[in-house]
Amino acid sequence: MKLKIALLPGDGIGPEVTNQAVKALKAIASEYDHNFQFTQADVGAIAIDKFNDPLPKETLDLCKSSDAVLFGAIGHPKYDNDPSAKVRPEQGLLKLRKELGLFANIRPVKAYPTLLNKSPLKKDIIEGTDISIYRELTGGIYFGKKELSDDGNIASDLCEYSRPEIERIAHLAFKSAQTRNHKVTLVDKANVLESSRLWRRVVTEVAKGYPQVTLDFLFVDNAAMQMILNPKQFDVILTENMFGDIISDEASVIGGSIGLLASASVGDKYSMFEPIHGSFPQATGKGIANPIASILSAAMLLDHFNLNTEAELIRAGVEKSLKLKISTPDINPASDKVTTSIVGDFIEDFIFNPKDTNLNFMNIHLGQSTII
Ligand code: IPM
Ligand code: MG
Repeated sequence: MKLKIALLPGDGIGPEVTNQAVKALKAIASEYDHNFQFTQADVGAIAIDKFNDPLPKETLDLCKSSDAVLFGAIGHPKYDNDPSAKVRPEQGLLKLRKELGLFANIRPVKAYPTLLNKSPLKKDIIEGTDISIYRELTGGIYFGKKELSDDGNIASDLCEYSRPEIERIAHLAFKSAQTRNHKVTLVDKANVLESSRLWRRVVTEVAKGYPQVTLDFLFVDNAAMQMILNPKQFDVILTENMFGDIISDEASVIGGSIGLLASASVGDKYSMFEPIHGSFPQATGKGIANPIASILSAAMLLDHFNLNTEAELIRAGVEKSLKLKISTPDINPASDKVTTSIVGDFIEDFIFNPKDTNLNFMNIHLGQSTII
């Protein structure tokens, strides 16, 4: 298959983790005879530095003329600590999501058997957890009218949703549940918010078209608690933009590290794949960033184009790396030798030689003695 992939590494650790995902995709292309073409462009703080625009026109044009976008991370502390900044890196990401019509953000959350003891939650609670979060991505409070009074003392952000905006993501969530454990949980705040009551009405109607799928409802405050108390109760979680942002970071604790969580953002025409973690400025260039979320985002990209065997191979490589503890310090604090690119090299190597025990790889890269 021929795919034009726009690479937007962005800020902080974005470039280093994206490089590892590209390595994995190039290995897949060579093993399966695909033609993946990568073209890189700037987004976020780096684009502000260069062009005074977090999403330059050339970047947006590149995304629109590509089959898929592989995104790294954006953000820089100089903007986080300056509430008066008019231009912010995050605006680039939000505009990109809106311009590409990426209304559904899918965030899988899984407890890896080899990492059960890495989570601060008890093993019994998280073992077997397998959740797919469907977060609405182009509406709600993120995109509603924003106002600040002239004296700067009153501010407001409008949370607005329309029926079609809810219907289109609800259909995707129900379709996904049909292939999984047949359950959708709508997370909202319908006891307080009018917009949440609209979500309940519309989602209840959509559910009628999927009789094999059970629909239940949870208020977001309760859902936040249930995510910690009993995450296994969830299959597909459907929710609006900001609740999805919050609950997915919370859910990442189940996997043992936010550095493992990938995501796919899809619309009617375009698709983008990105780790859910941020730019982690303190780690930039140190080789300690976990590339797995980016590599798994690349696997989601392959799935999106029905290259499921290829995606599975990447996932098998990730699982093998976790099993062999070829992992960055967020999940393997004992090892200071395993860098971001060593994890990437291992997974690349696995793609080329999935049957190999990889002992050789470990010996060469980790400087261990060869016992042959
Ligand atoms: C995410 C991030 C973004 C969001 C930020 C960087 C704007 O937290 O993708 O979850 O809030 O959507
Ligand atoms: Mg977030």
